[in-house]
Formats: sequence, C-alpha cells, structure tokens
Amino acid sequence: MSENARPDEAAQRAGKLRELLRYHNHRYYVLDDPEISDAEYDALLRELQGIEAEHPELVTPDSPTQRVGAAPLDAFAEARHEQPMLSLANVFSEEELRDFDRRVRERVGGEVAYVCEPKLDGLSVNLRYENGVLVQAATRGDGQVGEDITVNVRTIRSVPLRLRGESPSLVEVRGEVVIRKADFERLNEHRLAEGERPFANPRNAAAGSLRQLDSSVTAKRPLTFFTFGTGACSEPLGVTHSEVLERLAGWGFRVNEHVQRVAGAQGCLDYYHWLLDNRDTLSYEIDGAVYKVDDLDARERLGFTARAPRWAAAHKLPAREATTVVADILASVGRTGAVTPVAALEPVEVGGVVVSRATLHNLDEVRRKDVRVGDTVMVRRAGDVIPEVISVVVDKRPADAEPWDMPTSCPVCGSEVVRLDEEAAHRCIGGLYCPAQRMGAIRHFVSRRAMDIDGLGEKLVAQLVEQGLVRTVVDLYGLERETLVTLERMGEKSADNLLRAIDASRETTLPRFLYALGISQVGEVTARALAEHFGSLEAIMDARSDALETVPDVGPVVAQSVARFFAQPHNQEVIAGLRAAGVHWPSAAADTASELSQPLAGRTFVLTGALEGYSRDDAKAQIEALGGKVTGSVSKKTDYVVVGADPGSKRDKAERLGVTLLDESGFERLLRETANAGS
Ligand code: IVH
Repeated sequence: MSENARPDEAAQRAGKLRELLRYHNHRYYVLDDPEISDAEYDALLRELQGIEAEHPELVTPDSPTQRVGAAPLDAFAEARHEQPMLSLANVFSEEELRDFDRRVRERVGGEVAYVCEPKLDGLSVNLRYENGVLVQAATRGDGQVGEDITVNVRTIRSVPLRLRGESPSLVEVRGEVVIRKADFERLNEHRLAEGERPFANPRNAAAGSLRQLDSSVTAKRPLTFFTFGTGACSEPLGVTHSEVLERLAGWGFRVNEHVQRVAGAQGCLDYYHWLLDNRDTLSYEIDGAVYKVDDLDARERLGFTARAPRWAAAHKLPAREATTVVADILASVGRTGAVTPVAALEPVEVGGVVVSRATLHNLDEVRRKDVRVGDTVMVRRAGDVIPEVISVVVDKRPADAEPWDMPTSCPVCGSEVVRLDEEAAHRCIGGLYCPAQRMGAIRHFVSRRAMDIDGLGEKLVAQLVEQGLVRTVVDLYGLERETLVTLERMGEKSADNLLRAIDASRETTLPRFLYALGISQVGEVTARALAEHFGSLEAIMDARSDALETVPDVGPVVAQSVARFFAQPHNQEVIAGLRAAGVHWPSAAADTASELSQPLAGRTFVLTGALEGYSRDDAKAQIEALGGKVTGSVSKKTDYVVVGADPGSKRDKAERLGVTLLDESGFERLLRETANAGS
C-alpha cells in the first residue's frame, strides 16, 4: 500500500487485511492449526497498523490491531449482567449424581441426554456481542454485577473481536479464561528469571492477568478462552445445547474438545471416570465434570433455584491442592548423597490421599518460596508425582518464623554437606559410610528395573543396614535364613521368598547390572547403550573417558562419572564380590554361541570350600565356558555343589536337598567329559 493511497483504496485494503488477520488468528489460536508463519502474520498486522496510523478514521473497535492493550485504567467499571451468571450445584458422589438425574427425570420424564464437559479451572467471563462485534467483556462478580474487563479480554487471541458469518443482533457468550499448563510453566520460569514471584497455579495466574488495570500486561499473558454456553440472546440458537455449542464454534470460538453427549446417569459416570483417568493428559487444569441437560426445552421446564440451574450439576474431581501447616523442614539424604529439604506437614488430604510430606527440591527453592517452619502452605499433588509445596500464605506466618537453612553436616552420618559448583543440590560427602546413602544404594540395587529383588522394602533395608547385616549390596547374597527370621516382621515364609528372589536375581543382564550399580548419571537408557557398545563389563571398566564418549548419548559428564566410578577400588571390590556371589549375565559371545556347544547350558553350580587346583574365579570361568551357571546359594534348582576343603553350610544344605555333591576330582572329571562331549 503506498503512503498516499486514496482513502477508499485504503479502506478496502484495511478491510481485506482484517479479514485475513481474523482468519489466521482463528486458525492459530482456536484451531491450533496455523497456515502461515508468525513472520507472515506480523507482516500483515504491520501493514494494517500502517494504514490505520495514516487514516485514524478507519480504525474500528474489532480491528485485529486493537488487541495490544489500551491505556491503563484507574479502576474497572461495573458491568451489570443482563442475565445473572449463576453457579452450579455440586454432586460429590455417584449416589448424589443419581439423585440429580432422578430429580431431572421426575420433571421431564424418560431417560435424559446430558452433555458432559470438563469443568475448567479458570475464570468465568461474559462476552457481549452486538451485531457480531465484541462490545463488552465482564467478570462474573457476584453473579449480578461484575467488572468491565473489555480492554483486557480484547487482548485474548481466542476471543473473536467479530463473530464469523451470520450472527444475531445480540448474543452473550460465556466461558472460562484459562492458562494452559505448558504456558503456565513458561510464564513462571520467565517471572523467576525476572526476579518476580511465581504464580501459585494457572488459575491464579489467569485471574491476576485478567484483573490487570494495565491491559498491555494482560496482552503478554498466554490466556485462552473456552466457551461453554450463552447468556442473553436476541434469538434462539438451536433446540439443544449441543447445537448451541456448534453455533459458537462456527462463530470462531474454542469449544472444549472433550465435550460429549451421553445417555443418563451412567453415561455421566463413565465420563467422570474417563476424566479422572485422563486428567493429567489434558493441556489445562480441570477441577471436575459438568453435566448439562442437552434439550433446551427440558431446561426451560426444569428452571432454576435461587443460585443455580436445576438442569446442570458439577461433579468435583479430588482437589489437587490443599493448605496445611509446615511442622518441620527436614534434610533427607538420598542414595547419591543429595540432601533434599522436605517439608513435614500436618497431614492433609490432597488429590484423594493423605499427605504428610512434600518436597522442597533444593535450597534455592526454599529460599525462592521462602518456606519456614510454622508457615501455612499450599501443597499440590498431581498424578503420581511427589507432593510439593507450591507457595506460602504469608499472611498466616507466625511472628517468630525463621528462614530455613541447609544443615552444614549430614543429619544421618555427620559428614560435611557441600554444594558442588553448578549443582542445585547439596550433597553429603560421606559416600557409603553414610547409612542413608548405603540404604539408598541398596534400595536402588534391588528395585524392579535393576536386580528386581522382590520383598526388600524400605523398612527391611533399614533394619539390615542398621544391624550391620548388609554393608554393601554384596552382603545381600550372603544373607541366611536363620538371620532373616530374627528380623522384625519377617516370617519364615517371607524369609524363604526373599532368599528365592535374591537367588533368582543372580541371573541378570548386563544393562540391568550396570543400572543397578547406581552410577551417577547412568540411567537405564545409558546402561543399555554402554552394554551394547562395549559388549562386556570388563570392556566398560577398562574404557577411558574418551572411549566412553564415543557411545551415542554419552557426553563428557556421563563419561567422567562412569570412569570415576570404576576407578574406585571400593566399587571394584563390590563388583568382584557380586560376581563371586554368582551374579552373572549372558556375555555377548555366549549370546551368539550355539546351545549345542554349551554342554552345561541350563546347569547350575554352587562352589563351597577351597579347591586345590582352581581359584574360585578359575572354576567359575571353566563352568561358564561350558555354558553352566554359578550361583551363591544352594536351592532345589541347584544341579551340583562342588565341595572343596573346609566347606561351609552350603554342603549340608545340598545334602538335605538331595543335590549332587562333587569333590574336586569329580568336578574335574565332569569338566573333562562335558568338554569332550561338546567338541
Ligand atoms: S456452566 C449456570 N460449564 O464453573 C451454569 N461452567 O460453578 C453456568 N465452569 O462460573 C456454568 N467449566 O466459571 C459451566 N464447562 C463448564 C464450566 C463451567 C468451568 C465454571 C464457571 C462457572 C462455575 C460454576
């Protein structure tokens, strides 16, 4: 458009640009399906801004240029609702839902179709459109009178400033303004980076953004509007709520994608359970389901109570946030020595379970949120994640509450607590001297994805460590039934089960074993990558940092951590001990070797006492070379027990169980004969 375009040409081009911008805005903010790049959109917008600057008389209130925010207000004006904005009656149980449905059926007769919608956790607003143009946006307020927040709502891209297509002379569109979870995370990160206080939750952030007197601030907030119905309207929009929602979508509004029409109370209940299961997968926060009678004529007959329609009900999901008091702040030591501040809480129900601990992540978080003992805090528990303290209700802080600080010595072993450069965490330097780290290491070692030893819960590991029965994971393989049964809450049967599980864990895979060692930075994926690349534990142990770095996804930090781990004599001892105890896995070579060349395949050996001609490792290597397995304890599944000088209790056990005993010469004969048979 040239600078001195004739006014009618300018008007025409401005009209065209507005149409284009509205179209692309809708595709981007409502349909999540843009057709042009942000840069192309900006170019169109700038062109329109240029025309409007030159011809101010052409500016219309519904122009896409009018979303950027207006001059700050002193206060919001009152906005009286033409039709009151009511609330919803709540049902709290299946029984109450069935009661609600019964009351509805009594008034309208027959089975009722309901529209089920997620109850979005945001702010309710009323948008008034006259001749298709947004003229006023208001908060709910007390239901009769709200606040006029038009300038702010205009900045929300999913709110059409002009309705698409044909529209009535008057329609009020109602819905919820929310901030999506991902947008919320980004917003808070940004606020933290700017040294501002983060918002407690998306709802608070949305509320704070909408009630800004300076709409240019609102314009920068990632608000989204979802419609769920209408207020005053100059003409009927359909005969069912479903039809109304379709009209609303046609005008360019976002209608929630999980709206569903169902039959009767059972349909509502099924929907509720679906929401309960899928809550975490939604991109926005919800706090319940809303059930609405679909037929508008039936709604008419049902009417309203003083505060809520009789044709709708809200079914709350368990709240995921609750306030409670911080009784104490503890420093909890993990298996890697990380010292994590944990809030001990007065027990409170959150998301359907009673919570008495919540993580505070690290010292920076405690400082940022300024959580103190005695504080009233908001805690949150989402899905399976550990409950966390989100924010402090500062008004309720006791006068004598002191800021918390990290202890300088480990609360478990007394070693120094340090903070390494670049790390958010503080660490106890006690290593495996620290019982907490030892316990953590053992718990990790036995966990399902590591050695998978069932029956070694937290309490049992604590007993084993505290009584000095297990110092390192190697000791697990030496545990005896007689000792186990003396432990608290350990019956004979559980002792046997545990011993069986320990025994079974001897046969593992290299990736599991590597993961089980608990090397810092080595998760399951890295463990698998290392195993695949090097093929054997020995090769990994011998690899230098630079060789380790050639493994896909292994960077310098991981490589160093691995190299450092295997360089520690203590760790080498643990590994040797585990192998001596019979922990083994198929080697890459054994994988490819044919079963036939492995005459001892499937045979299990236990070695006890000293052999003259073989060291333990030699004997084991010979057995394994022929495909046999060596384990550390005797069971019914053991095929041979090789008995040297001064044998231990394993010999007696083998005899009791009727397992074949071999002395050294018998062992030699077996090796010779099978080797010949195999070749
Ligand atoms: S319908 C008269 N549908 O819940 C019925 N409300 O407790 C008007 N809300 O103020 C509300 N999602 O802020 C309706 N799908 C939904 C909703 C919803 C969230 C909020 C809304 C309303 C409050 C009522």
